[in-house]
Amino acid sequence: MEIKPKEITKEQVDAQLSICEDIKKEIGTGRYAMVDTFGCQQNEEDSEKIRGYLSAMGYEMTDKEALADIIVLNTCAVREHAEMRVFGNLGALSHVKKDDPEKIITLCGCMAQQESVAEKIRRSFPQVSLLFGPDELWRFPELIQSVRESKKRVFALGKGDGCVVEGLPHLRSDKVKAWLSIMNGCNNFCTYCIVPYTRFRERSRRPSEIIAEARELVFAGYKEITLLGQNVNSYGRGLSEETDFAKLLREINAIEGDFIIRFMTSHPKDATEELFSAMADCEKCENHLHLPLQSGSDRVLSAMNRRYDMEKYNNQVKKIREYLPDVVLTTDIIVGFPDETEEDFEETLRAVEEIRFDAMFTFIYSKRKGTPAYDMPDPFTREEKQLRFDRLLETQNRISEEKHKEYIGRFERILIDGTDKKDACLTGRTSGGRLVRLSGDEALIGSFQNVKITDCNTWALRGELI
Ligand code: 5AD
Ligand code: SF4
Repeated sequence: MEIKPKEITKEQVDAQLSICEDIKKEIGTGRYAMVDTFGCQQNEEDSEKIRGYLSAMGYEMTDKEALADIIVLNTCAVREHAEMRVFGNLGALSHVKKDDPEKIITLCGCMAQQESVAEKIRRSFPQVSLLFGPDELWRFPELIQSVRESKKRVFALGKGDGCVVEGLPHLRSDKVKAWLSIMNGCNNFCTYCIVPYTRFRERSRRPSEIIAEARELVFAGYKEITLLGQNVNSYGRGLSEETDFAKLLREINAIEGDFIIRFMTSHPKDATEELFSAMADCEKCENHLHLPLQSGSDRVLSAMNRRYDMEKYNNQVKKIREYLPDVVLTTDIIVGFPDETEEDFEETLRAVEEIRFDAMFTFIYSKRKGTPAYDMPDPFTREEKQLRFDRLLETQNRISEEKHKEYIGRFERILIDGTDKKDACLTGRTSGGRLVRLSGDEALIGSFQNVKITDCNTWALRGELI
């Protein structure tokens, strides 16, 4: 049976905005808030909504903890390391809270949605006044008001199957590039992954809402729109209208204006030929596909519940390269999944050598409580996994550098998106998403420029304006 997501009504959102107005009247001027984000782009986008609400409440943004009346840590639960960093930060914030007991320290995001974390916060981190899961974000103003009025700690963990909400304010931090979330949640239940338990069931926003938001972004002068979803390839499932991601891409591409479209993430089991064909047809859609492989061993892929094998993955790669011969292909790989043997790992290395990804995000498997892999036997030591991880990185770094060398002498149209303070230069991205550093005036930020690639290293290209 299909579960219908709960739709938050306009009246419910308006009621939250009206609480923002009340708070604004109460706090007066010169009040500050700080939002610190950990984890993925979806979280970055959520933080923009939190900042949007805070701004509607009359808070100005700061990055100084001592100055902030509200401190929000928007967290990630995908790996243990990220969680440890947050606990470390929270520990340090106990002094800040002692100096000013009125400060509202808030923990939200995927970490906050886990019962075990909420319990630990309840017991050992009294400095946290508010905790809420990703699905409760839409009622952030009500939660803040409740902390302010009751002077008690408030815990709001989502219980449902996920809601769909429109019309929340956004305070975007960038002027050139914008995130646009098209869906939320995940139904895939990869056995290592916590996301389906923290962000709940997959649900898509209506195409009309997404297109309206994309139009606003283009009108506001944004040059790059990145469509976000845990698995954009299943976009549209469960909506009453007939649509899919390829169709959505074509509709956004049809919006007039000089802008580019990126998207992530694509699950290999659901990537379709229609998508590849739409990517090839849509002139605004960039030449990049992020297609997480996770492992090159069929045995491990099956234990991960990825629901594709190497034959299917290789076919996807072959197909996309037929449509877009110079597509930039990037991936995620997990090393040391429970019981991954030396043979399994060597299959991953072989796959990496054969496919020749342009770049890769590599992770050592991190045990997540509540996921099926948590209870799988895991006989290999951290040191053994680290050695495999280093070998994989070495292999990919060599390939990335070889691929980058092929750019030298080429001309690329890039979007200048910012500066690199350390190198005192401008930065931009090729159509395939490769980082380019170049000299030039900051006034060029936000413009498309033709650039000649002159040099490279493993991670980036160097270019000259022409
Ligand atoms: N351990 C290590 N890496 C993980 N990822 C997701 N869950 C885990 C985990 N438990 C990685 C996957 C995913 C990326 C976003 O994070 O590679 O594609
Ligand atoms: Fe996690 Fe798999 Fe869903 Fe990605 S597709 S969020 S890895 S469960």
